[in-house]
Amino acid sequence: MKGVILAGGSGTRLHPLTKITNKHLLPLYNKPVIFHAVEKLVNAGIDRIMIVLSPQYLDDFVSVLGSGQDFKSKNTGHQIQIVYGIQNEPGGIAQGLCIAHDFIANDSVVLHLGDNIIEDDIALHVANFTSGATIFLKEVHDPERFGVATLDKNKRVTEIIEKPKDPATNLAVVGIYIYDNTVFAKMEGQPKSDRGEYEITWVNNRYVDEGTLRAESVKGAWFDIGTFDSLLTASNYMKEKHLSEKPKAQ
Ligand code: G1P
Repeated sequence: MKGVILAGGSGTRLHPLTKITNKHLLPLYNKPVIFHAVEKLVNAGIDRIMIVLSPQYLDDFVSVLGSGQDFKSKNTGHQIQIVYGIQNEPGGIAQGLCIAHDFIANDSVVLHLGDNIIEDDIALHVANFTSGATIFLKEVHDPERFGVATLDKNKRVTEIIEKPKDPATNLAVVGIYIYDNTVFAKMEGQPKSDRGEYEITWVNNRYVDEGTLRAESVKGAWFDIGTFDSLLTASNYMKEKHLSEKPKAQ
């Protein structure tokens, strides 16, 4: 299993914070945002990760993450390997994943959106993954901001709609996905959406059509740090978590 973290985009909603750097390198309490996605994958036993990013921030990412020397493999105890893929123009999540095609080769992949901070552990889902796709759902109060899943009475996903005006459920699709290697064949012939992007929701719906998409629910907190408020809320949450987990002085 390989890991891909998408960290492109210009983050204009976070100007002026993102005038000199990328939103994934901003601090989230005590570490850069991107560390959370890397740690999530490393904790799930993934040792080889590609960060997909915009060319102008490559040096900054290399300064922060290097070749992965700050992260130890769960399998070998040695450092993991981080490599970089360049996304010249923002074209959507599915396009970002395609940049990692050669890196993924014949393997399966965990795709993590770098601006999603997910508290729950995905290690068991990664360990148990064999084929198809696994997505993660969370009940939210503002589903119109996300991909939204509809389930049948057996709790299987029947459809995912990207940012529906009138959502049928409050089950948002979280920005972490596990795919088998058929994901690339499924993207062939994919049209751009109305917002001009190759949507990951379109790809997920191909797995729904095939009957090979599993949906798991996510426990704990989930943040998408695209706005000042969500960045601050996530930072405060991490501070509380850090302090409550810190061993107390005797
Ligand atoms: C993307 C996905 C959406 C998902 C969300 C999670 O939205 O398209 O389905 O629910 O990430 O953060 P975007 O960030 O492109 O608006």
